[in-house]
Formats: sequence, C-alpha cells, structure tokens
Amino acid sequence: AQLTELRAALLNWFDRQGRDLPWRQGQEGRRDPYRAWVAEVLLQQTQVARGLTYYQRFLDTFPTVQALAAAPESEVLKAWEGCGYYARARNLHRAAQHVATHGFPQDFVGWLALPGVGPYTAAALSSLTGNEARAVNDGNVRRVLARLHAQTHPTPAWVQGHADALLDPARPGAWNEAVMDLGATLCTPRTPQCPACPLRPWCQAHVLGTPTAYPAPKAR
Ligand code: ADE
Repeated sequence: AQLTELRAALLNWFDRQGRDLPWRQGQEGRRDPYRAWVAEVLLQQTQVARGLTYYQRFLDTFPTVQALAAAPESEVLKAWEGCGYYARARNLHRAAQHVATHGFPQDFVGWLALPGVGPYTAAALSSLTGNEARAVNDGNVRRVLARLHAQTHPTPAWVQGHADALLDPARPGAWNEAVMDLGATLCTPRTPQCPACPLRPWCQAHVLGTPTAYPAPKAR
C-alpha cells in the first residue's frame, strides 16, 4: 500500500508539474522512436536548456531517420555543431543507416545494440517508446533514492535494485521522467526543496532533517 501511494504521489506530481519539453509529445509509452532517440542521445551530455535548441535544429535538418541515414557525415556533424562530443553524432548517423533498413529496436536489448546507446539511454527509450519496465539509473536517480532510504553509500547495484523496485510498471516511461524531473528541479544536490516534494511523506533523509548528507560526498 505504501508503494502504491508513493508511486501515485510522484506520478500525480509529474502529471501536474512535470516539465513540458518538446520531446515529450506523443502518446505516453508510445513515443515516436526517432524523436525520442535523438532527444535521449542529445541529453546524454547536454543540459536540457541547451538541448532544446539543438533538438529542434537537428530535427529540422533531418526530419526522419531516412533523411539522417541518407545524409553525408559532414552534414550530420554540421547539424551537431556547438553541441560537443561528436562521437554521438557519428554514432547516430551509423545507427540511422542500420535502422533505416531494419527498423527501430523493439525492446531494451535491441536499443542497447545500437552504437551510442548505453544502459541509461536503452532504459529510457524502451520505457518511453515501448512501455517496457526498465528503470533509468544515473546521478539524479542515485541521489533521489539515497535520500529516500537515507543511504550514505549507495552502490550501483543497490541503486539499480531500488530503482527497479520503485518503478511503476503501469507507467514506466512517465515514472522515469518523473524521477528525472524530481532530481533536476526539487531533489537537487545542494538546496533540495523538501517542502514541495511529493515524496516527502516517505523520505528518510527528510525525517532525519539532513537531505544533503545523502549520498555522502565522495571521499577525496
Ligand atoms: N535527460 C535524459 N532524458 C531526459 C528526458 N527524457 N527528459 C528530461 N531530461 C532528460
């Protein structure tokens, strides 16, 4: 019952207060795979605010995966200009040539096989485009979960286990983006906004009054 209530609280917050971002259009869990893929690759190493411009520019230049696949690499790199980490653009281009022939991946394992797609991106894409119950796991997720459970030293396996257990299997894509938004807007590293947090009733770090103690800063 606790888990059901916690999930409902976060998803309800996300439905009302989640960020309105251009790559979030389309039916929940059935997002257009081309647009979702371009967005997730862009957001691997580019902040959301900067990503907005590049996302639009890239899609204007290459509106479909066929257009991307058919373009010369020099034009793909030109459309990526200013964004950095050009290996992402080369991998997108190479993967587009595979996808244009074989179609888009249908599940997590299929996404993971594309060049430039790691476990985080494959989890995001399989949940957002295929409703697959795969939890994303990055620094934001780690911080949110460490605070929720007052865990000072979350290992990667601990984080993945708790992320998988919390994920709402009825709405995996929305769940993943809800956790991203929570970590980016309220459960931030230095100044968490606990009074506004939908997870406050369940948060051990909040009970203890020391949210920024979780996770413990890396020893140096
Ligand atoms: N970072 C990675 N994927 C994202 C998404 N879908 N929305 C917002 N930020 C993200």
